[in-house]
Amino acid sequence: MTKVLINEHLVDEQDASVPYNDRGYVFGDGIYEYIRTYNNNIFTAKPHFERLLRSAKEIGLELKYNVEELTELIQELLAANGVVNGGVYIQVTRGAAPRDHAFPTPSVEANVMAITKTYDRPYKLLEEGINAITTEDIRWLRCDIKSLNLLGNVLAKERAVKYNAQEAIQHRGDIVTEGSSSNVYAIKAGEIYTHPVNNYILNGITRMVIKDIAQEKGIPFNEGTFTVDFLRNADEIIVSSTSIEVMPVVKLDGEQVGDGEVGPITKSLQEGFNRYIDTDS
Ligand code: PDD
Repeated sequence: MTKVLINEHLVDEQDASVPYNDRGYVFGDGIYEYIRTYNNNIFTAKPHFERLLRSAKEIGLELKYNVEELTELIQELLAANGVVNGGVYIQVTRGAAPRDHAFPTPSVEANVMAITKTYDRPYKLLEEGINAITTEDIRWLRCDIKSLNLLGNVLAKERAVKYNAQEAIQHRGDIVTEGSSSNVYAIKAGEIYTHPVNNYILNGITRMVIKDIAQEKGIPFNEGTFTVDFLRNADEIIVSSTSIEVMPVVKLDGEQVGDGEVGPITKSLQEGFNRYIDTDS
């Protein structure tokens, strides 16, 4: 029987439930992480759990676990579900309380929930690339927090699906920010361009890995804003996340990107990423 982690307990999936007045359900008042496992190892575990703690701090949510304790809880869940290659979703809400916008006083215990999924790497898409569309970024101004409030992201992704694309690349006015669930990179004349880390984007863990690989390979990694027009004229486009890794975009708004093939810089970063998976534990 598949287990779900509910506040330190591994519960049978069919018995797992959360209170109707949980603030995550009522207000989206909570945070989350999505982490990948490769060959029984939690990939980049530390930065993910550190980011979860940072998100908690930024919304004034007190979480009683540290990185080591969180890692242990998640390892137990993954082992119980026999996940070798897959992912784990962890969310923490401010807890259950009568509906009132302000934080509950006295404060209530945060609710932690985690679920796992077994699946393989997206080999075919990594080789062939995906289609993306562009869409206005309508989200709030704290996109650096991995908040449960994902309505803007959900609407953007749904728009992508409507246009036969797998990702929606968002822009605020002219400036490209990030994907609905990924970071975005334009590659031009052998250099990588990506939005700087600030309140307009999530500081992606995959982005950090890509930055490391680029530096190691001597590929210039420019963290500065760029326009939708610049993106349209890029030689290569990549979107990255925990689940889609280093994913080439071969069509943008129905137009071929570069020569329509997965480009050399993308392939080089993918090769570096494969090696990184083998060494990170
Ligand atoms: N999303 N930007 C946004 C808005 C995201 O939702 C994500 C990841 C990223 C990439 O972050 P990372 O490399 O740390 O996964 C950037 C996850 C996969 C999700 O929501 O399931």
